[in-house]
Amino acid sequence: MAQHLSVITHPDQAIASALPLLQAGAVIAMPTETVYGLAADATNPQAITRIYETKGRPRFNPLICHVSDLAMAERYGRFDPLSRQLAEQFWPGPLTLVVPIKPGCGLHDLATAGLDTVGLRAPRGFASELIAAFGKPLAAPSANTSGRISPTTAAHVEEDLGGQIPLILDADAAAVGVESTILKVEDGQIRLLRPGGLSVEDIEAATGLTVIRPEKAGAIIEAPGMLASHYAPNAGVRLNATVVHPGEAAITFGSAAPEGLEKAVAVLNLSASGDLAEAAANLFSFMKQADASGAASIAFTAIPAHGLGEAINDRLERAAAPR
Ligand code: TXA
Ligand code: MG
Repeated sequence: MAQHLSVITHPDQAIASALPLLQAGAVIAMPTETVYGLAADATNPQAITRIYETKGRPRFNPLICHVSDLAMAERYGRFDPLSRQLAEQFWPGPLTLVVPIKPGCGLHDLATAGLDTVGLRAPRGFASELIAAFGKPLAAPSANTSGRISPTTAAHVEEDLGGQIPLILDADAAAVGVESTILKVEDGQIRLLRPGGLSVEDIEAATGLTVIRPEKAGAIIEAPGMLASHYAPNAGVRLNATVVHPGEAAITFGSAAPEGLEKAVAVLNLSASGDLAEAAANLFSFMKQADASGAASIAFTAIPAHGLGEAINDRLERAAAPR
């Protein structure tokens, strides 16, 4: 079992315990506002290899490198004016920017899967203090076995990976609940590589620009982690359900009351008031609860596609994809 430390009640002790482990190339669980990350020194090849091994993740899949702030980010990535503007407007926060790597900056090829670009993100809160104390970027994918549901609590990390890592830093439930939005600026245009915890509407409002979404059918996978099946619970997943079948668990949104709901194995409402931010924060944890109910499948009622609904629907489509 991993050692647990609360970063809320003991932030200094958490940093003091984490630093020597990170310096020695270990992998630890770090809370961020999106999901818990499996963090290690982004400049140390052994440390990065441990991340891939712990997750069972394919190595062609590059990792997001987390920085304390824009100043640290600019030591590792080349920021065009629009990328810099996005960082200034939305960091710290649930936004990853893909930018060209500064040659010789020290980030290891294993972290970036040999690409000439890097995904950089400045998380909010404790993670940023930890990275500032470490003085270098931390590579951190979500702290779950590859393909499974991302963890939004320290307990989720313990269940999945507690036996494999020395330390889990605990900051209670992640506030945002879905991973960061990934953007890449090209030719003065903002391209969405992954919908996430920062809505496209917010980005468009702040910049006055239209965000270019990937074409769905037959698109080349540009964020290599965007494999079809992902976020998979053990149970099957059925979307846009208007009926709950016998033996199913139901995850609803707002006032939806699908037929057969009273016979569901478990019923969870992502947000009774229809708040998409609340729904995003509950999503992964409710998927795990519904899965634990032993239901053969989980029926989700429809969730609006706007705002954070875009990221929620993206994760649900992957959870429902053929495995
Ligand atoms: O919220 C988050 O982003 C969480 C927390 C821990 O910060 N991290 C996370 O990391 O979701 P991960 O490794 O599970 O997702 C990384 C995604 C993958 O889809 C990967 O392909 C993409 O980022 N990515 C990383 N570097 C990239 C690059 N240079 N170009 C395109 N996509 C990149
Ligand atoms: Mg992940």
